[in-house]
Amino acid sequence: MTDSMISRRAALLGAGAIVAWSASPARALLAQVDGAALPAPIEAILARMTLEEKAGQLQLNAAAWSGGTATGLNPPSSGPSFDGQVADAVAGKLTGVFNGNGVEMARRMQDAVMRGSRLKIPLIFAADVIHGHRTIFPVPVAEAASFDPDLAMRTARMAAYEAAAAGIDWTFFPMVDIARDQRWGRTMEGAGEDPLLGQMFAAARVRGFQGRSLAADDAVMACIKHFAAYGATESGLDYNAVDLSERTLREIYLPPYKAGFDAGAMSGMASFNEINGVPATGNPWLMQQVLRDEWKFPGIIVSDYTGDEEMIAAGFAKDGKDAARLAFLAGVDMSMQSNLYALHLADLVREGAVPQATLDRSVRRVLAVKHRLGLFDDPFRRIDKTRETARSRTRAAIALSREAAQKAIVLLRNEGDLLPLDLNRRIALIGPFASGQHDLNGPWVVYGDNNQAVDLVTGIKAAGARAVSVTAGSGVEEALPGGIAAAVAAAQAADVVVLAIGESEGMSGEAQSRTSITIPAPQMALAEAVAGTGKPVVVLLKNGRGLALEGAVRDAAAIMVTWFLGSETGHAIADVLFGKVGPSGRLPLSFPYESGQEPYYYAHKATGRPAPAGPREPYKTQWRTAPNAALYPFGHGLTYGKVTYAAPDVPPTLAWDGRIRLAATISNTGTRACEELVQLYIRDRVASITRPVRELKAFRKVALAPGARETVTFTLTRAQLEFLGQDLRPTVEPGTFDVWIAPSAQAEGVHGTFELLR
Ligand code: NOJ
Repeated sequence: MTDSMISRRAALLGAGAIVAWSASPARALLAQVDGAALPAPIEAILARMTLEEKAGQLQLNAAAWSGGTATGLNPPSSGPSFDGQVADAVAGKLTGVFNGNGVEMARRMQDAVMRGSRLKIPLIFAADVIHGHRTIFPVPVAEAASFDPDLAMRTARMAAYEAAAAGIDWTFFPMVDIARDQRWGRTMEGAGEDPLLGQMFAAARVRGFQGRSLAADDAVMACIKHFAAYGATESGLDYNAVDLSERTLREIYLPPYKAGFDAGAMSGMASFNEINGVPATGNPWLMQQVLRDEWKFPGIIVSDYTGDEEMIAAGFAKDGKDAARLAFLAGVDMSMQSNLYALHLADLVREGAVPQATLDRSVRRVLAVKHRLGLFDDPFRRIDKTRETARSRTRAAIALSREAAQKAIVLLRNEGDLLPLDLNRRIALIGPFASGQHDLNGPWVVYGDNNQAVDLVTGIKAAGARAVSVTAGSGVEEALPGGIAAAVAAAQAADVVVLAIGESEGMSGEAQSRTSITIPAPQMALAEAVAGTGKPVVVLLKNGRGLALEGAVRDAAAIMVTWFLGSETGHAIADVLFGKVGPSGRLPLSFPYESGQEPYYYAHKATGRPAPAGPREPYKTQWRTAPNAALYPFGHGLTYGKVTYAAPDVPPTLAWDGRIRLAATISNTGTRACEELVQLYIRDRVASITRPVRELKAFRKVALAPGARETVTFTLTRAQLEFLGQDLRPTVEPGTFDVWIAPSAQAEGVHGTFELLR
């Protein structure tokens, strides 16, 4: 930015702070270097900093603005008033704040720092922009059901465009934790159970948020979280211990983090959990060896909210000072919310417990990301009142939200082609999610407003449905007096029941682990009673995780997974319900038969006593009441077309350095156009490490008009057949591989085998 631009901006903002910044030593030093060059000025700033100021650059706290609403989505904790926080920032005790609100707050804080602080190091403003800022997109796991990473990139870009206009430089997203246990409530924040899908979505979301240049006024720095293996928490209980072999960690859990960092994410967040006895926040193996030495990550690592302090309760650190030392020496550059770094780092350095060079290295990293975000160049880069309004909930953003929501919906079952519904049928819309501005956006929304989202009945009516009655029938977790009788009466008076049931926002998300992943009992009673009328039932599930469907819900003629879809919930569901748009989503996680199967995932091992494909046999790997399979597997999702897979073309061999083309012909013999997700799975039949029964290797969406057919071809090379050998190094072994080109992880589709020849 040139000086003339600075003065124009200063004039526009009328802010003396800009002028103060222009005259500051930091600005003067940066003016000596061109764009990307960091070291000289940053070193010079560093050289002038006191130990306390250095520690301050490594302390990020929840914004106190508006009485500290920022802590609303986290455990309550007390901090200074807003004025106190501003004073801390001016005194250099704070690197920035998170989950604050808007340009007004950011301007006041940045202004104070630019006017009053000694070195005028800009503050950084962070926030949990997880699935949208003010325009809310489907929860991340729902978006992953689109199997469309490009869509995720576009929603992330849009979220960045909105959030950056509201003063936000840094989002705590993407969450890339693999979730294989649906009891865990934070499944909703990630991309499901599969490492390949996880990697693709991680990379796409980083690219979307960060854009082409981090310095752009619509770029927001991404944060890969929660590093690492937070989703592998024992028994699906949030924050619980993780006990995991290095093999599983490296093969299943780590790849999405790596993909996110490889895509350029300049920050990461340490997870709350321990791994094999060592909290991630105090884990040098993870933070140094894996992240820095092996992956060459150049950015910053922040603890999770009081994650460093929590090592005391976990029995790993003696007290706050010890916790700060352990976290910092492990490689956590920045402390979130506990204030432990601000309190102890300077003393720890003075006492020789923390090397000065280590402190300098972390401060350098923080200054470097602030520089890359353009903040040294213009601390008010993302603080602009006009843009904040102009970029909020634009028509393009709302349209994108609707598109993303449509693509996230998964049709699980459609007996007798009940769907799409005819607009002229009399509809009894029943259930706690039938109407009302609640539970639309979903968990982890800081800035969006359910009151601005479209509820189901509004969407259905707007689509042109001729006759719709609305009956709640039940609360989410409690019965409604007279609810069932009213619902039965409504069903009897209708041609078809649309039953909107499932989980509330409060039932999934952080700290919302469930022991049973079923529909709550009062809603089940409602479903049974409504089914008793004999009317055809379409179940619309609201959920943030995979569910175990039972009784009348499992047996309903049609079942659609509608997750938490965000701003355009009602419109998007209606679009699919009435067939304006065909369903195209696929499950990014398995729906088991029963809760007790969890953790359940499609890529499990065969065992020495695999369950037979046909009738049950004794002494096999299966539960007494459920097979070792999913009711609705990963990858499953129906369309309004009729799709068949035929004519596999699997050459018999793959040469060691060659490539193999695997093809199948996909036809739509139905009367409606559809989009089919064609999936490629392999199985390595015999290897020095047992391999999963199936592994997803690629997928492709094909649009098929009625009567159309297309040959879909995938190419594989040896590299895609790699696994970690007994020495944990990548290896490939010659031998036989099964290959399926199929519509789900459990479907046969077309099946062939090839030999990898050395
Ligand atoms: C705790 C959550 O684990 C994390 O995902 C979030 O970013 C922080 N709180 C900040 O709100």
